[in-house]
This record gives sequence, structure tokens and C-alpha cells, in this order.
Amino acid sequence: MDNGIVQIFDTTLRDGEQSPGASMNAGEKLVIARQLEKLGVDVIEAGFAASSEGDFESVERIAQEVERPIVLSLARAQEGDIKRALKAVEKAKHPGIHIFIATSDIHLKHKLRMSRDEVLDAAVAAVSFAKKYIDYIEFSAEDASRSEKEFLAQVFGEVIRAGAKTLNVPDTTGYAIPSEFGALVKYLVEHTDGGAAVIWSAHCHNDLGLATANSLAAVANGARQIECTVNGIGERAGNTSLEEVVMALKTRKNYLSLDTRIVTEQIYPSSRLLSQITGIPIPINKPIVGDNAFAHEAGIHQDGVLKQKQTYEIMTPESIGIPGNRLVLGKHSGRHAFDDRLKALGFNLSKEDMNRAFIRFKELADKKKDVYDEDIEAIIAEDIHRLPGKPDRFELLYLNINSSSNAIPSATVKMRVDNQELTDLETGDGVVDACYKAIAKIAGSRARLLRYTVKAITGGADAQGEVSCMLEENGVTVSGQGSHTDIIMASALAYTSALNKLEYRRHYRQMVEREGP
Ligand code: KIV
Ligand code: ZN
Repeated sequence: MDNGIVQIFDTTLRDGEQSPGASMNAGEKLVIARQLEKLGVDVIEAGFAASSEGDFESVERIAQEVERPIVLSLARAQEGDIKRALKAVEKAKHPGIHIFIATSDIHLKHKLRMSRDEVLDAAVAAVSFAKKYIDYIEFSAEDASRSEKEFLAQVFGEVIRAGAKTLNVPDTTGYAIPSEFGALVKYLVEHTDGGAAVIWSAHCHNDLGLATANSLAAVANGARQIECTVNGIGERAGNTSLEEVVMALKTRKNYLSLDTRIVTEQIYPSSRLLSQITGIPIPINKPIVGDNAFAHEAGIHQDGVLKQKQTYEIMTPESIGIPGNRLVLGKHSGRHAFDDRLKALGFNLSKEDMNRAFIRFKELADKKKDVYDEDIEAIIAEDIHRLPGKPDRFELLYLNINSSSNAIPSATVKMRVDNQELTDLETGDGVVDACYKAIAKIAGSRARLLRYTVKAITGGADAQGEVSCMLEENGVTVSGQGSHTDIIMASALAYTSALNKLEYRRHYRQMVEREGP
């Protein structure tokens, strides 16, 4: 029976993590998973357990900790992948598995080198095998939007018979047009054997900027699950953005008559948390969560909003959790006020993490008169990447820079590497360059700096600078963050944090074999 609820399947930790620089370690993923539970998502795709030891570990930890949502792992239509996925979610309260295989002729011919019959057999065999061990199975026909619809209906019908409960229709390449995608979903719902008794799902990519529109077209035509990511992060141009589809359904309930179980007040904290952890900035004009999403600039608009908000506002900032009151802390704020603010910002930290954050807060409050929410978020984000029980390999101990209009910029850096203290002096095109050269030399790193961004976290001359830098080494890309009232220190901290993340990745990395079964 259709209750008008659209399930939200969050794939921030799997497809989202596939965006360059978005890789997270197990601890960071757990923090995001806890926030997703608070946000009210129905399904968390926690990772792709067979792809690496690190992914397996983080799916397993999330499965053990998260209580309400279904937690599942992605798996190719192969027994090896399925066994790994099943093992990773075995302790979940609500375990699930997500099996996929491509169905378009392009993928069959060039990637899988399989015939349609072979793909059909592999899909049915995979679902039948998984069904012996687990009840909740989602099946995805990769590149569905470029597949022949009759073949799609045949594959879906057979996997429903084998036990799949949710059928996912991915627009893997972001190629579909909304009316076309809606029509495809309608066709599948109506022409698939057993199609009336399962949940149909849309998984759209944003290559043409149509992911939200395509997902809405899908639900208007019978889909009751949308697969999406916070801030729309994901492969290439990203996935459907969670906040966009959820707020579209909420704001236009009068038109679509559909709803979700999302606690929309948790949207903004979730968006900020993900951006802080990954270092991927939120574009200022990003719908719903961008800095300008509720800013009215034109005089006529401001006049209208002052008279009656609804003139130019279709939803309120409060409805997505933008804090109405910006409580400012300072050096006289005590432990209680700090703990309260952390909770209000959505951080549920262990006692040990709280203590560490409070020390950092006090240090900051000594340098900076007003400590804003954004400052607190930055403090927490820097700490989150640390691995429980495993100290960072690199620690910045000391930095001294020399810069003037007629001398070559130089930097002296002292770091702890494992248990050794090492110092180096380098010159560069600027002090940041000199400092990065010194850190790289001490760390023995050959990583390439792909991106470096600096922004003021809040206003005022004593504002903290927040630096994010993206490093690449042997095909692995990571982002490091650093914040400090001195932007050169923030830059050095960001670089050091990225190097620590690369260390973590090196430790766990096993190349994902994506060539298909
Ligand atoms: O985009 C895609 O097709 C996917 C599948 C694995 C669902 O991410
Ligand atoms: Zn995808």
C-alpha cells in the first residue's frame, strides 16, 4: 500500500566518497553515519565492503553502531563480493545488501564482455545466493537509463522472483531528461513481473544538472525511494543532492502529495559537518545550504521580505536548521556553555574528545575575542580524522617564516615523525610554498598539491583562516583541513592533516577492481 512516503537512501559514504578528495577514514565515516541517523535517513549505504580493508572495516563499524536505518554494503554480482558485504553488515540491527550489474549494451560489450543472457543469469544467481543469508536485498541495473527497457523489465522481473525487495534504476552517467526518466520508471513499474509489490528507486547523477529533476520525475511516476548524497557530492558532477529532493518534496507537498521521514532541521548541520570533514566547500549559491540560499540582495526583494517573508521566501532557514541565534562564546565561557553549544551544533562526542575540544577552544579564545559556531565546527573537524588508538604519524611542532618585499621567502619547520623530531629550512615562491616544501621534505612525501583554498571562517580581523588542501599520491586523493588565526599556520596544519590521511589510506588501500564480474 502506498503511504506517500519516499524513502531516503543515503549514499554519501559510498558513491559520495567516490568524488575526488572526499575519501574519509573509518572514524570520520562513523561520525557522518551517526549524523545521518539523526537526519532520519531510511537507508545508509555505508560502503563497498569488498573494495578494500578500510571500506570493510567502516561498513562493519557503522553496522554495529547505527540502530534505526537499514545499513547496507554495495556488492557486484559475484559471490566473493556478496560474502564480504554480508559479513560486514552481519551485526547490523537492520542489515541489507545492494547488488548491482550493468544492463546497457555499451557496458555489456565494452566493460563486462558478457551477453544479455549471461548478465541475466549472473544477476539472478547473485540475488538467489544472497537471499539464502539475508532478507533485505536491493538490486541495481547499472546504466539503466541507457539500457533497452524490455531487457531491463526482464532482468528486474527475474531478480524480484529471486528475492530482491527494492529495484534501483540508476542514471549512472547523468544522461537522462526528466520526462524520459519518469516515463522509464512508469514503464518498469507497469511492465515488470511482480513490479507492483516492490519499492522502485531512482539513483541519478548530475552530469547535466538534472539529478534532482530526474529523481522527482521518478517519484512522480511511482518510485518510492531516492538515492542521494549530502551536498550532492559524488562521482564527477555528483549525485542527487539530499537536501534538494527532500526540501522540494516538503515545499511542494501541495503538488506532489509525497513526504519523507527526514528531520529537515538536521539538514544544515549535516551539510556543514560533511563539508568540514571532507574539505569540499559548499558553493555559496548551492540551493538550500549555500551561504546565499536565504540572502536577499536586491532592494525590492529586501523590501518585500521585510513586509512579509513569503513574498520571496518559499521555505524558512529555520526549517533546515540554520541556527536562529548565533551564540558567541569567548574566553570567559565555561565548560558547561561549551558542552551545550557542541550539543546544539549536533556533535555527540565522547568525554575524551570533548575534553580535547575544550582545550582547543580555550587556546583559541585566548587569541580571538569572539568564538563563533563556525570556529567550533572547525576545531571538531580537525580532530575527527584522528584514528582511535593510533596517533597521527606526523605532527607539526614549530613553524617560523621569513618574508619581506625584497628577500626570498623561507620557512623553518619542525615536526614529529613517528617518534623522531626533524627540522628543515626551505625557500619558496612564497611562504606557503616554502613551508610546504619543508613539510614534504621532512615527511619524505612526493604527494602532488592539487588544490589549496583559504577562507576566513568568520568576519573580523581576528577571524580564523581555514585552509583546505587536496593532495594526490599514487592515484589516492585526500583533503586536509587546518584552521588558525594565522593563515600560514592554518596552511601548515592543513598540509600535515592531509599527509596523515594519506598515511591512513596507504595503510588500508587495496585497488578496487572495477572491471565487472
Ligand atoms: O551510478 C550507479 O549506477 C551506481 C550503482 C552502483 C548503483 O552507483
Ligand atoms: Zn552512482
